[in-house]
Amino acid sequence: MHPTPELQTERLVLRRWRPDDRPPFARLNADPRVVEFLPAPLSRSESDALADRIEAHFERHGFGLWAVEVPGVTPFAGFVGLAVPRIEAHFTPCVEIGWRLDAEHWNRGYATEAARAALAFGFETLQLAEIVSFTVEGNLRSRRVMEKIGMTRSPSDDFDHPVLPEGHTLRRHVLYRSARPGISCEDVPVAE
Ligand SMILES: CC(C)(COP(=O)(O)OP(=O)(O)OC[C@H]1O[C@@H](n2cnc3c(N)ncnc32)[C@H](O)[C@@H]1OP(=O)(O)O)[C@@H](O)C(=O)NCCC(=O)NCCS
Repeated sequence: MHPTPELQTERLVLRRWRPDDRPPFARLNADPRVVEFLPAPLSRSESDALADRIEAHFERHGFGLWAVEVPGVTPFAGFVGLAVPRIEAHFTPCVEIGWRLDAEHWNRGYATEAARAALAFGFETLQLAEIVSFTVEGNLRSRRVMEKIGMTRSPSDDFDHPVLPEGHTLRRHVLYRSARPGISCEDVPVAE
């Protein structure tokens, strides 16, 4: 597997994870603001297990959910990146773009700036034909980021998250798609 490159933007560095990212990652995973649209806050060991899975994903696929550093502001603000979701749904297999940032650093455009770089990496370096993103219907912040990076939603793609039981308030999800420039969103193949 080729080494994952670091991505640099005007204000951010998207890099592989370091051991000292784990305490701040656990803090943000325990913050009710951050986990509002996740089933539950994570304990320290659950947060570390997630960091382990993120690392394993980089090793397996050569890309993943990068740690986001804001030089001069914070060494670790959260993650933004690309991942192969483990769920089965009408749009899988696929590559998704996702994000989770410390609430102390929200609304400064960091997620959007990092996501644009991750999207460009997916299309230009990985040569993906399509990248998707999904979230709980009511997660307007996340949906706003999807819209700002040019992704589009078709209501016919809405779906019930397969790991959440019927009646769960977070079950209904919206799906956004983005196709590589020059490629139509219809019937694009996804390479794993
Ligand atoms: C989603 C998230 C990564 C966004 O990070 P961010 O760095 O604040 O994002 P940006 O600053 O690039 O953009 C946020 C946009 O949401 C808008 N926004 C903020 N709060 C909002 C709200 N309550 N309703 C609607 N829009 C809202 C902001 O105004 C901004 O849009 P604008 O530039 O048009 O003004 C961050 O909120 C987060 O980590 N949330 C918790 C984890 C999560 O939900 N992840 C996604 C799960 S799929």
